[in-house]
Amino acid sequence: MHVHRRTIDGVTPGIDRSASPVAPVLTLHQAAATVAAYTTAVRLGILDHIDRSPATAAETAAACGISYRGARAVLDTLADRGLVLASEGRFRPAHDGLAAIHPMLSLWERLPETVRTGDPVFRAESVDSAQQFFPRIGSLLASMWTHAVDPIVERLPRARTVLDVGAGSSPWGIALARRDPECRITALDLPGVLPATRRAVESAGLCSQFGFLPGDLFEVPLPERGFDLIVLAQVCHLFDAARAAQAVRLLAAALRPGGTLAVVDSLPGSPGTATQELSLLLQTTAGTVHEPEDQRKWFLSAGLRSDKRVDVHAVPGITLLTATKG
Ligand SMILES: C[S@@+](CC[C@H](N)C(=O)[O-])C[C@H]1O[C@@H](n2cnc3c(N)ncnc32)[C@H](O)[C@@H]1O
Repeated sequence: MHVHRRTIDGVTPGIDRSASPVAPVLTLHQAAATVAAYTTAVRLGILDHIDRSPATAAETAAACGISYRGARAVLDTLADRGLVLASEGRFRPAHDGLAAIHPMLSLWERLPETVRTGDPVFRAESVDSAQQFFPRIGSLLASMWTHAVDPIVERLPRARTVLDVGAGSSPWGIALARRDPECRITALDLPGVLPATRRAVESAGLCSQFGFLPGDLFEVPLPERGFDLIVLAQVCHLFDAARAAQAVRLLAAALRPGGTLAVVDSLPGSPGTATQELSLLLQTTAGTVHEPEDQRKWFLSAGLRSDKRVDVHAVPGITLLTATKG
């Protein structure tokens, strides 16, 4: 699976860091080469071309007006990094929307400024920025969790009514709907993001099980005791602990007695979190990977009883914490 081939926390697949003292330097070299190959593929139209239909290196070179040797080397590098798939000499992107994340990569060039000042280059937690940022990367985010969706969803209780909060491309809502045709999902996200949510649900063929609720999770009125299960996945890390606790408190009121709140996020120490923290430094005012003890305190102060913890030990690592309303 491609997720296992990503570069996580500087560990480049294929290089065993313990094997050689120069392995970290090779890691750096490979990371730089990967970014350069990806950027070149975006700028020269290579990714666009193979996105339209799978193509050989020769066809891509002809279509983009570039050298065959260059097209071949870039496509082979991207295939080696798991960003592009190669089959019978034809290449295609391994992920939907791969070209669309290019502007995000250039944000890293501003890391020195952020580290010096402590100010992010933009604030992904703000409603305006979130609506520009997340529609572009929603399907990519969803594809990052394909390894985790089934092991997590199978540990969630059966539910007739589900609220997927900050749904994005709703990977968790879609999996719950597939698991149980009786299950009705309300996907809540900001108005500028929800059309992308709807497209993902449509392409999964599950519109009949979904409703779409546009709004800010901190402000949108929710039916009191309206849901059997509320999923809050990959959202808390956008906020500091006080704001995340506020989200938990508001959502707890929308759970029916006996209902479950499922918080899905990375935890400190899981694979990839050092890089995630660096990314949150760049993109949020105070976002962070929260400690499980803190999350349990949020549950308690929202009147919920901490329940299950399920760790998916893959790359990236991700954890489900559940809490039940008494
Ligand atoms: C990192 S994405 C996670 C998407 C999805 N839950 C997943 O696991 O792939 C965070 C999502 O939270 C949404 N979001 C951020 N702030 C929000 C707010 N104040 N109200 C509602 N949704 C919000 C974003 O638009 C985005 O879709």
